[in-house]
Amino acid sequence: MTNSQKLWGGRFTGNPDETFAEFNRSFGFDIRLFEADVRASIAHAHGLHGAGVLDADETAAVTGALRTMLELAAGDADYMNLDSEDVHSFIESRLVELVGDLGKKLHTGRSRNDQVATAFRLWLRDQIAHLQTDIKDLQAALIAVAERHQTAVMPGYTHLQRAQPVMWAHWCLAYLEMFARDSERLEDVAKRVNVMPLGSAALAGTSFSIDREAVAKELGFERVSANSLDAVSDRDFAIEFAGACSLIMVHLSRLAEDLILYASTEFGFVALSDAVSTGSSLMPQKKNPDALELVRGKAGRVFGHHAALLATMKGLPLAYNKDMQEDKETVFDALDTTRTCLKVTAIVLGNLSVNEARTREAATKGYLNATELADYLVKKGIPFRTAHESAGKIVLLGIETNRELVEIPLDEMRSVAAQINEDVYAALGLERTVASKSAIGGTAPSRVEKAIAAAKASLNG
Ligand code: ARG
Repeated sequence: MTNSQKLWGGRFTGNPDETFAEFNRSFGFDIRLFEADVRASIAHAHGLHGAGVLDADETAAVTGALRTMLELAAGDADYMNLDSEDVHSFIESRLVELVGDLGKKLHTGRSRNDQVATAFRLWLRDQIAHLQTDIKDLQAALIAVAERHQTAVMPGYTHLQRAQPVMWAHWCLAYLEMFARDSERLEDVAKRVNVMPLGSAALAGTSFSIDREAVAKELGFERVSANSLDAVSDRDFAIEFAGACSLIMVHLSRLAEDLILYASTEFGFVALSDAVSTGSSLMPQKKNPDALELVRGKAGRVFGHHAALLATMKGLPLAYNKDMQEDKETVFDALDTTRTCLKVTAIVLGNLSVNEARTREAATKGYLNATELADYLVKKGIPFRTAHESAGKIVLLGIETNRELVEIPLDEMRSVAAQINEDVYAALGLERTVASKSAIGGTAPSRVEKAIAAAKASLNG
């Protein structure tokens, strides 16, 4: 395409350098904004009608052609094959094909600067809803696997050292909480996405009397932007979105890491299905957790997009600068990657089984009930610090003689703390240990059962 054929060709006499033209082109990726940009263009045509720029027939012809364009694009893969600079020029070229010179009136009172910000926001608003659906599906998978193994007990860890026993379902619900916050965060981002820049034109606003609020209403925007300079140069919403995706990926990567560990021979807590594992080309015995490793790895990629957006926007002068065209691929890939990872993780969980005997065995080895012993002594009237010291001594006794706490005879325990009685063994039992954590948020089975019910209700509500 020569420069004189471009949207902005008037003041040009020379032709573009081919390498630069390709460098400048965004149509290869902003094609994803096609439908959103057509919808915004239809609303803008109505705005122009209200401003007296298009009469009723012209408005009907332009909006009709824009709708036809959506159908043509849906019906013919080749329809999008034009050598356009970006999706906005593509739409204008196709419009002029359909309605002739009338199509050239549509750009009155708008610039690609407010147009791209509007289309991007419209598109993102829908995508946020899809992402939230994926989060819900993953939460449902977490609840399902919690219920499949509702009585399973396993070691809980701090510093990756056995700490205290917890219910498997409690582990599942911990992740459910993280994803609930992620969804809430997206809801909050959506509020700031849902603001319409259209009508800000290039940077200064428009001189046509377009009823911006009516246009916004047609497009389902909650508000119109209040300052034209800010409206065309603000990409906070994209950065926030990538940030929200990054946190989802933080949570997914932690879940992935836990399961990778739990699936190892050393732990042997869970079995991953063949459907989400791979083998080794050399070692016949291997079953590798590739699905989870990829989820863990792709977190880095999404953080990279977030950082890239921040770096692109840093120090840009007001208002629009072409640097900002870099916003799209980062957001597109952050979205696609996060969605795929949510889906794959839900599949992994859907096929996961817990080796309940093994997790129970692990939860009874390694003095996970030492805190119980200290609490027992506290209940006998000993200050916690002293109780902690005594329990530590008894643990040391156990370590030195390779016995668990419940295997140490009463007289040996009493030599450390005389207040200990026969009832200590019941207090140190696994079921009692878990059941005693019954305050709100604790791992007691009764609490976990209620938490599952509440999670189900809020997911279906
Ligand atoms: N493709 C451009 C982008 O994504 C559209 C806006 C172009 N505006 C301009 N003044 N050249 O940012």
